Amino acid sequence: MGVKAKDLKTIVITGASSGIGAALAIHYAGPGRVLALHGRDAGRLEAVARACREKGAEVEIFIGDTTDREAMQAWLADFYSRHPVDLVFANAGISAGPGPLTLEDPAQVRRVFDVNLTGVLNTVEPLIVLMAARGRGHIGIMSSLAGFRGFPGAPAYCASKAAVRLYGEALVGPLRAQGVGVHVICPGFIKSPMTEKNPFPMPFLMSAERAAALMARGIERGRSRIAFPWPVWAGVRILACLPEGIAQMVLRKSPAKPR
Ligand SMILES: NC(=O)c1ccc[n+]([C@@H]2O[C@H](COP(=O)([O-])OP(=O)(O)OC[C@H]3O[C@@H](n4cnc5c(N)ncnc54)[C@H](OP(=O)(O)O)[C@@H]3O)[C@@H](O)[C@H]2O)c1
Repeated sequence: MGVKAKDLKTIVITGASSGIGAALAIHYAGPGRVLALHGRDAGRLEAVARACREKGAEVEIFIGDTTDREAMQAWLADFYSRHPVDLVFANAGISAGPGPLTLEDPAQVRRVFDVNLTGVLNTVEPLIVLMAARGRGHIGIMSSLAGFRGFPGAPAYCASKAAVRLYGEALVGPLRAQGVGVHVICPGFIKSPMTEKNPFPMPFLMSAERAAALMARGIERGRSRIAFPWPVWAGVRILACLPEGIAQMVLRKSPAKPR
């Protein structure tokens, strides 16, 4: 289900204080646009809001944690009652680092699932109901190319991104029938504070600005899956099709965050 950029007047973005979310906010900022920007760091979120206002957008910010279901529900319902939302990006997410003894710190693993899965549900669920009742709207769910295969070094991250990918894919058909477009976004490596800590080479690393432009184009064209850059996307698809034993051999030497 495609949409013209001019019809996307009101846009909600979680994780807008940094990286991809900030780039999406700047991309969409302009006269006639109303942006609701969500994040935890008030200083960084306000700086992004200021840059968007300078480009002519009307901006509201909300400081909070996407894992707080009641707060998300109350915020989104209040915002929607004043500005019916045309597009939401459930973008806020985190990755895990290694624990002292284990591949990943167990507390961080739980936190990754909370933010990357529960946080996305808390963002999307209140708006599904409202958008379906209005018969229009678009939902961008931030998954990852890491959601197509378990990569050594990032088990929780891959699993959380696979979960939201499948959740979004399953919503596409039923919500299309109600006039709501669902777009599962699966980027490869994007330059952001999340990836700047990675000490290994990241193939086809892309700027957050370019990634935001590709996401916007995919939504306008009505793509239910927006996956890029294509060489990494092709590589991941091949890996996902390999017999498991061969895939494990290929991945044996793949990099992880250092312990
Ligand atoms: N960078 C990549 O290569 C890449 C590739 C594929 C997918 N992604 C996905 O893209 C999304 C954005 O990542 P990024 O690279 O832009 O990372 P980032 O620069 O670290 O930004 C993450 C954003 O999420 C927010 N956030 C994290 N936990 C939150 C919580 N509990 N409640 C509310 N906000 C929270 C952060 O807010 P504060 O800073 O205010 O705390 C920040 O704005 C993530 O879902 C990530 O998994 C990234």
